[in-house]
Formats: sequence, C-alpha cells, structure tokens
Amino acid sequence: ELTDVTELLLSRIRDVPDYPVPGVTFKDITPLLADPVAFAALTDALADFSVRHGATKIVGLEARGFILGAPVALRAGLGFIPVRKAGKLPGATLRQSYDLEYGSAEIEVHAEDLAADDRVMVIDDVLATGGTAEASLELIRRSGAQVAGVAVLMELGFLEGRRKLVQALDGAPLEAL
Ligand code: PRP
Repeated sequence: ELTDVTELLLSRIRDVPDYPVPGVTFKDITPLLADPVAFAALTDALADFSVRHGATKIVGLEARGFILGAPVALRAGLGFIPVRKAGKLPGATLRQSYDLEYGSAEIEVHAEDLAADDRVMVIDDVLATGGTAEASLELIRRSGAQVAGVAVLMELGFLEGRRKLVQALDGAPLEAL
C-alpha cells in the first residue's frame, strides 16, 4: 500500500525508454526536482530517516546524490560530505574502486571529513547494482567511522543491489522510499 508521499514521488519520476542504450529504461528524477512540493517531501523523508537512525553526517554520492544529499543534510542539521568520482577532491583522500558492467570506477572522500565517532548516512537517488553504494560503505568503514545506513529515493529491485549491500551494511538499515 502506497502512502501519499510515495504516490507523489512516483508520479514525478519519468520513465525514459531506451536511454542511455536500447532496452534500458532510465528513471529520470528531473520532474521531481522541478516540483518544490515533491522535492521538499523527498528531502523531509530522507532527513527524518537519517535523524531517526542517529546519523551525525550525510554522505552524498556524485552527482545526483549531491542534489538530494545537500538539502537533506541542511534539513537534518548535519554536515554534508561529498563522495566524488576519483580525481576531483584536492585534499588527502581515501579511494575505493568498484566493478562496472564493463571495467571499473573509483570514488574518493576527503579522509579528514569522517571521524571515528561519526555515524554516516549515505544518500543517493537510485540503488541499481549496489556497486557505488557498496564502495561508499567501504570508504566509511576504512575511515574508521560507523555506518548509520543507506537511504535512496528508489531501488531497482531486479538488480538485487540490496543483497549486494548486506555484508557492507552489517545490520545498518537500507531505506528505499
Ligand atoms: C548512478 C546513480 C547511482 C549509481 C547507482 O550514478 O545516481 O549513484 O549510478 O548504480 P549502481 O547501484 O549500479 O552502482 P552514475 O554513476 O550514473 O553517476 P551520476 O549521478 O554522476 O550520473
């Protein structure tokens, strides 16, 4: 059974067939971002979840995770930490590689942004294969901080990202609105 908020969010996600390649349906969140009521409802829900699970920092995953993570952090009264694609952060970083369908990618975080007494909530738009989120959890673990959880707008269940994250979450919650 869907809540009013879920119905609103769903109604603002556009399915784009055959993008970026034939046979793939892209979930476009730009209509949601363009609707301030829906965007605020999303931000509130992700911030509530983060506070409820004791987060002390919000991590956003480049790039769409920045659009959602930054207002969530402000709403929750917490600091925002960007996890970027490799080569973009100027300071001392932790770097983590992960597998893509073809090849691999790397993400980074400023090491000094995460402390041992932090509880970190990871925010992103989509959980697909879970590779990106898993790599971000590995960065958090390597920093010495605790994982408060992962919260996304949507989960593509057929890709089984939730199963991929079980070990890295180590009991922390995964929320897909
Ligand atoms: C997308 C999405 C997630 C990730 C999910 O980002 O925003 O971060 O892929 O996929 P996964 O679960 O299979 O790892 P993308 O890498 O396209 O970057 P962008 O947000 O910069 O477009």
